[in-house]
Amino acid sequence: MTTLTLNNIEKTFGSGQNKVHALQDINFSTAAGEFNLILGPSGSGKSTLLTILGGLQTPTSGQVQINNQNIQDLSKKKRENLRLNEIGFVLQSYNLVPYLTVADQFTLVDQVKPKDNISKDDFESVIAELGIQDLMYQYPKELSGGQAQRVAIARALYANPSVLLADEPTAALDSDRVMQVGQLFQDIAKKQQRAVVTVTHDVRLKEYADHIYELVDGRITQVQ
Ligand SMILES: Nc1ncnc2c1ncn2[C@@H]1O[C@H](COP(=O)(O)OP(=O)(O)OP(=O)(O)O)[C@@H](O)[C@H]1O
Ligand SMILES: [Mg+2]
Repeated sequence: MTTLTLNNIEKTFGSGQNKVHALQDINFSTAAGEFNLILGPSGSGKSTLLTILGGLQTPTSGQVQINNQNIQDLSKKKRENLRLNEIGFVLQSYNLVPYLTVADQFTLVDQVKPKDNISKDDFESVIAELGIQDLMYQYPKELSGGQAQRVAIARALYANPSVLLADEPTAALDSDRVMQVGQLFQDIAKKQQRAVVTVTHDVRLKEYADHIYELVDGRITQVQ
């Protein structure tokens, strides 16, 4: 069972007058089977926390642990494999490849990670649930913000990660879609026994979460 933990994480950017203390003494843990929601206003440190949790950037101090092992202690190659095989990201900017169709965004995952991606049946059900079946031959610039967001969620799930990290995955979605994504994330956690962590200011997701945290000025508090 996968667990991901942050111990006493601090993150500062810049120095002197321009120094920003983005995260202060963050302790947080997530495990397979849980949907954790971290709510916070703009600039509170959400993206910084999520990218540190997934090993995309390093903290100024403190430890990030996966299955009780410090990821800083792993070799670069091991860290990269971990990111590729265990962690799915839905980044705030969606990060779709501009010159590839929606269908080819998934083909690209197969090229980078040829094994252990989700089955054809599971893929069909994910794209149906997210309502993106008819978008397969479109390019990212032809998609609305909400459509791009749903493709980015499907792409993250495609690689069959044990941990799904999502940054504002519902900001561009209407309420019906938010309900579907909330339900999907809950199912991914519960039925598929993965860990899901979402950072957002979208309180519409609250009812689907197991644990809720608030992040204010880089400090985290558990509220549920
Ligand atoms: N690379 C960086 N260099 C300097 N400052 C940064 C950098 N990344 C983030 N910050 C600062 O750290 C703080 C937290 O930023 P972060 O992007 O994590 O906030 P956020 O909660 O994700 O905001 P938003 O809701 O607008 O996406 C902000 O004050 C931001 O300006
Ligand atoms: Mg952000």
